[in-house]
Amino acid sequence: MKKRLEDKVAIVTGGGSGIGEAICKKFANEGARVVVAGFPEDSVEEVANEITKAGGKAVAFTGDLSVEANARKCVELTVQEFGKLDILINNAGVFPEVNLVTDYTEEAFDYMLRHNNKTTFLMSKAALPELQKTKGNIVIAGSEAGMVGIPQNAAYGGTKAFNHAFMRGLAVEQAQFGVRCNCVGPGPIDTAWTHASTGPMDKEMEKTNKIATPIGRLGTPEEVANVYLFLASAEASYVTGAVYMVDGGITLGKGPIGEKADSSMKQEPEGDLDLKHSMDGHTSIRE
Ligand SMILES: NC(=O)c1ccc[n+]([C@@H]2O[C@H](COP(=O)([O-])OP(=O)(O)OC[C@H]3O[C@@H](n4cnc5c(N)ncnc54)[C@H](O)[C@@H]3O)[C@@H](O)[C@H]2O)c1
Repeated sequence: MKKRLEDKVAIVTGGGSGIGEAICKKFANEGARVVVAGFPEDSVEEVANEITKAGGKAVAFTGDLSVEANARKCVELTVQEFGKLDILINNAGVFPEVNLVTDYTEEAFDYMLRHNNKTTFLMSKAALPELQKTKGNIVIAGSEAGMVGIPQNAAYGGTKAFNHAFMRGLAVEQAQFGVRCNCVGPGPIDTAWTHASTGPMDKEMEKTNKIATPIGRLGTPEEVANVYLFLASAEASYVTGAVYMVDGGITLGKGPIGEKADSSMKQEPEGDLDLKHSMDGHTSIRE
């Protein structure tokens, strides 16, 4: 049977951990050749090696992708290695601080603009000429925080709302070249970011994430990667300009309708679910 991304070439930014790692492995499992891109300190070589060992095709690219020369080099490496580019996954992002705006540092704000937005812009700019040749597509990391706004995450949510709006503009402008653009909007996902021990959230927020989610648990990186896969594949050929929420219902759950459902309704159902959680952000290829 033909795999869903057979013959496709994809760049995944922020591919060394968390959701990006799950996307890289899922795409490779579905036949894509993958460029795993991230900061020099990220585990991008490890992820590329794991894919290769499992029989897939991947190379690593290291560099700060918020620098235009690096974004260009990443695309150049892709074309040099694999001959073309079909899919750009703009997943890279940062979440440096949780604070009221009155206490939020200027450094954290600048850092987010740079890595959540400038990286998305520069990677899209560098990739589009190649994507126009292949009639490819872009999928960008949005967020629940960019849809509804979250206290103490107002600035982070702002950077994600930028990504949603940027994607919509791209979708309309690039349709004439056959290029589709969409966003995935994760809710609370089981990566280093959503645990008080490994990210900026405190224990209270960790608890709120679960209580506010109708499905009653965090999502796994694989569950987010599944939606990236759909949007990046030909199955989504008529989907452009969309923000697909992968949030266990938390965006609605926090709204006026969701508020009416008491917490007893927002619980994980009993019984085992066949899911792999990965609190440290590391994931493995699933068959
Ligand atoms: N984890 C969640 O609950 C959640 C919720 C909503 C949205 N998201 C989004 O999903 C994406 C992935 O999040 P994650 O939880 O897997 O985090 P993560 O930290 O595991 O992955 C993000 C990766 O991006 C890399 N990166 C950031 N800026 C970069 C740059 N300029 N150049 C190269 N690499 C860069 C980081 O080093 C990191 O490896 C982010 O865009 C995030 O905003 C996550």
